[in-house]
Amino acid sequence: MEQYAFASTLLKAENVSLNIGGNQILKDVNVEIKDIIRPGYKMGQVVGFLGPSGIGKTKLFEVLAGLLEPTSGKVTINNPAIPVKAGLVGVVQQNYPLFNHRTVYGNLDVAAKKTCKDAAERKKKIDDILNRFKLSDKGTLYPAQLSGGQKQRVAIAQQLLCSENFLLLDEPFSGLDPLMVEEVGNMLSEIAHSNELITIIIVSHDIVSTASIADTLWLMGRDRDAKGNIIPGSKIKHTYNLIDKGLAWQKDIDTKPEFLDFVREVKGMFSSL
Ligand SMILES: Nc1ncnc2c1ncn2[C@@H]1O[C@H](COP(=O)(O)OP(=O)(O)OP(=O)(O)O)[C@@H](O)[C@H]1O
Ligand SMILES: [Mg+2]
Repeated sequence: MEQYAFASTLLKAENVSLNIGGNQILKDVNVEIKDIIRPGYKMGQVVGFLGPSGIGKTKLFEVLAGLLEPTSGKVTINNPAIPVKAGLVGVVQQNYPLFNHRTVYGNLDVAAKKTCKDAAERKKKIDDILNRFKLSDKGTLYPAQLSGGQKQRVAIAQQLLCSENFLLLDEPFSGLDPLMVEEVGNMLSEIAHSNELITIIIVSHDIVSTASIADTLWLMGRDRDAKGNIIPGSKIKHTYNLIDKGLAWQKDIDTKPEFLDFVREVKGMFSSL
């Protein structure tokens, strides 16, 4: 059994509901992300929100990131708690916006400047991340000259360079080849293991990739009435503590039978969400 304890609250969504043009998208979403203390380790947390396409993951992501005001309820971060607002947390959106008039290197430098004033140090960090993401020969290109997966890696690299305590990613694994899915996953795990307070929040329909690196998972879905009809408005339907299940913090967890059983269980739930 892993030794750990939950400590202070880092992010909290309370009764978050979202209505767009009369459609209930989110309904009473309540989640609390707490600092996980693991004796002998300095590490942050990786949490995932999973659910099928159209369930409201991106909308919840936008609310958690302070990019979208919920119709009711609130999101707070840090301790003591303050309301989240755009710019307080690092975000990689599903359509990964980059500055089109700047090169890949230029995009990364804008991001790196937020946390690092020393140009030589920034160059080292940027070269290192370009290398890890197999983009070393793309530094002088503009976003329009990149493939979708390359753009996504630049967007992720950009946030890795400038985020401090929170990094939110919407579908970070989509559009990447299998090796890059692994690389992005490894990189996120590594970052989570480098800083006690860092919290990585992944919103995705990719069960395997997200569960491989998460310590907590939330499954989004909707309730049904007595006749089995869907009641509009997604909420958190299931919470999984992967630490207690013995499925967190292990390299190559995705090859273990108990992990594959868990993935099958979650996949089986998707049709009822
Ligand atoms: N501007 C809008 N106006 C009305 N409905 C919207 C708007 N934006 C999103 N929706 C609806 O909100 C729901 C949730 O959308 P969202 O983008 O959050 O889904 P998702 O879970 O991220 O899906 P995917 O996995 O495909 O990215 C969808 O049913 C969508 O049609
Ligand atoms: Mg989405």
